[in-house]
Amino acid sequence: MSAPVLNPVALPAATLISEAASLSADRYVVIGNPIAHSKSPDIHARFALETAQSIDYARMLAPLDGFEEAVQEFVRQGGKGANVTVPFKLAAYAMATRLTARAEAAGAVNTLAFSDGEILGDNTDGIGLVTDILRNAGTPIAGKRVLLLGAGGAARGALLPLLQSRPVQLVLANRTVAKAQELAAQFAQKFPKENTIVPCGFANVDGPFDLIINATSASLAAEVPPIPVSVFGARTLAYDMMYGKQATVFMQFASAHGANVRDGLGMLVEQAAEAFFVWRGVRPSTAEVYAALRAQL
Ligand code: ATR
Repeated sequence: MSAPVLNPVALPAATLISEAASLSADRYVVIGNPIAHSKSPDIHARFALETAQSIDYARMLAPLDGFEEAVQEFVRQGGKGANVTVPFKLAAYAMATRLTARAEAAGAVNTLAFSDGEILGDNTDGIGLVTDILRNAGTPIAGKRVLLLGAGGAARGALLPLLQSRPVQLVLANRTVAKAQELAAQFAQKFPKENTIVPCGFANVDGPFDLIINATSASLAAEVPPIPVSVFGARTLAYDMMYGKQATVFMQFASAHGANVRDGLGMLVEQAAEAFFVWRGVRPSTAEVYAALRAQL
């Protein structure tokens, strides 16, 4: 008996067209665990449409102990790049064969690019933050006093792009003061030319500041880092890296003390735009994508 033969004429035309398109399109994924909530496929599909780039971007759930294998398999299948999210940013850093300076500084990777056997590890979170502040919020950083709250992964990722924007001072305040001191010391060793970080505890922060960035995870627990209200002035921008339908408790607190506020949705869109640029060499515009995501919250 001969094997059954699939008659292509029997397939609906739409199937043939979409299969042909996805065969020719470069493939990208966002990898995490969990991953179902990720907005990245929506964002990148919108960027691709807007820039007329043919890409196929999907979610990939990797087992907690199987990140590297999942990436290697995707590379074997011809994948061109990946965004990496919780909890794999350190694993992505470890498996990169080459790192950008900003990934090196962040100690974590959120963007991988695969070519010719090389795994490039980049980090676009910090530049996403800075772009959102400079371009979208229209708030300058050069010559300004900046207060960064937190000394975990999110704060570390922001340090180099913030310093490269030349603030007059960057105060790094954390609940556990020793962690802020350690991060500042590590940074001074790796980037001696960039070092203007002043580490301290929340109670010792001496305001006012032009820009305050909440990079702690306190908003997740509906808590506000216990900073003195003297940090806020009438022209302060208080930025929370978290975002949601409502203003975070940090934003409410800052607003109540006279500051302008902004959440981290723009950072999410801008870090994606930078990753898109790393992969495709084309910079998408972000305003419409930002508005669409805001409307969906
Ligand atoms: P992420 O990758 O999001 O930065 P992380 O590395 O676990 O997460 O770091 C969390 C940061 O939020 C830390 O700076 C933490 O302070 P400690 O170093 O003292 O733990 C800070 N943080 C978490 N909850 C907080 C709270 N309720 N008030 C103030 N800071 C808080």
